[in-house]
Amino acid sequence: MSDIRHFLTLLDFSPSELTAILHRAIEMKRERNSDQGQQAHLNVLPGAVMGMIFEKSSTRTRVSFESGMAQMGGHAMFLSSTDTQLGRGEPVGDSARVISSMVDIVMIRTFGHDIVEQFAAQSSVPVINALTDDYHPCQLLADMQTWIEQRGSISGKTVCWVGDGNNMCQSYINAARQFDFELRISCPAGFEPSADLLAANSDRVSVVHEPKLAANGADLLVTDVWASMGQESEQAERAKLFAPYIVDEELMSRAASNALYMHCLPAHRGEEISAGLMDSPDTIIWQEAENRLHAQKALVEALLQKS
Ligand code: CP
Ligand code: NVA
Repeated sequence: MSDIRHFLTLLDFSPSELTAILHRAIEMKRERNSDQGQQAHLNVLPGAVMGMIFEKSSTRTRVSFESGMAQMGGHAMFLSSTDTQLGRGEPVGDSARVISSMVDIVMIRTFGHDIVEQFAAQSSVPVINALTDDYHPCQLLADMQTWIEQRGSISGKTVCWVGDGNNMCQSYINAARQFDFELRISCPAGFEPSADLLAANSDRVSVVHEPKLAANGADLLVTDVWASMGQESEQAERAKLFAPYIVDEELMSRAASNALYMHCLPAHRGEEISAGLMDSPDTIIWQEAENRLHAQKALVEALLQKS
């Protein structure tokens, strides 16, 4: 199966391939909003079927992949782990062999990153990581598309991650490498991302625990929930520890004068982000969410062209 192309992290594509996907996403968005509208992409992947395996909840990921496949003339099939034999202990590799023999592409949202790796190793079709405990690369495609639409290239800019060193933070580390920006990570002590990932990217990624210092002059501030899916029991304790890490108007005032802020959603107003920023008429957060659709359509098209 080694010649099959997968998208498990941003490192699975070269910087130029990623940029090409983002420019195609911007083009597809424009075409979708043109007179052609609903018909624009019906001939992109006629008859293609995506299997969507969800072991965690989702709104944006499910709706964007399912709509995207329909818009491209294909179909998407929702497979909850509780309703399939995966949830009853059928080995991941066996499931991968069977499911991939019947569909053209698979998307998986799960817990351990090793699960998507095991699935991909036995899959005869491309596999997309739609979020694991370690990475969320599809969200980064949408975030980078949003930046490009607003400001052009992100190369040489400074991004400040505020909050938990989680799957989104670790995806920003990969993005810093692939899209050539500086990343400052501001998290409470003990909530840093993987030490190996930090060490491998120490030329452009640093940890600055004090949020005001980290945000100083940054071009983009990014945050996410303090307790990710699977960490619900830690929510109350984390809320106390992370309180100084709210992205609010005060923290934004430390950033560059035209700085932007992003949040992958779902958000908790008054916790990791202020209600004022979430509900500001100028926020690009809704554009960022919509871009999941366009970026992933371009991603699926690229994976099915190359496989
Ligand atoms: N940002 C994101 O992945 O949202 P969902 O959990 O709703 O899919
Ligand atoms: N870090 C969050 C992202 C949700 C899209 C989580 O894993 O729950």
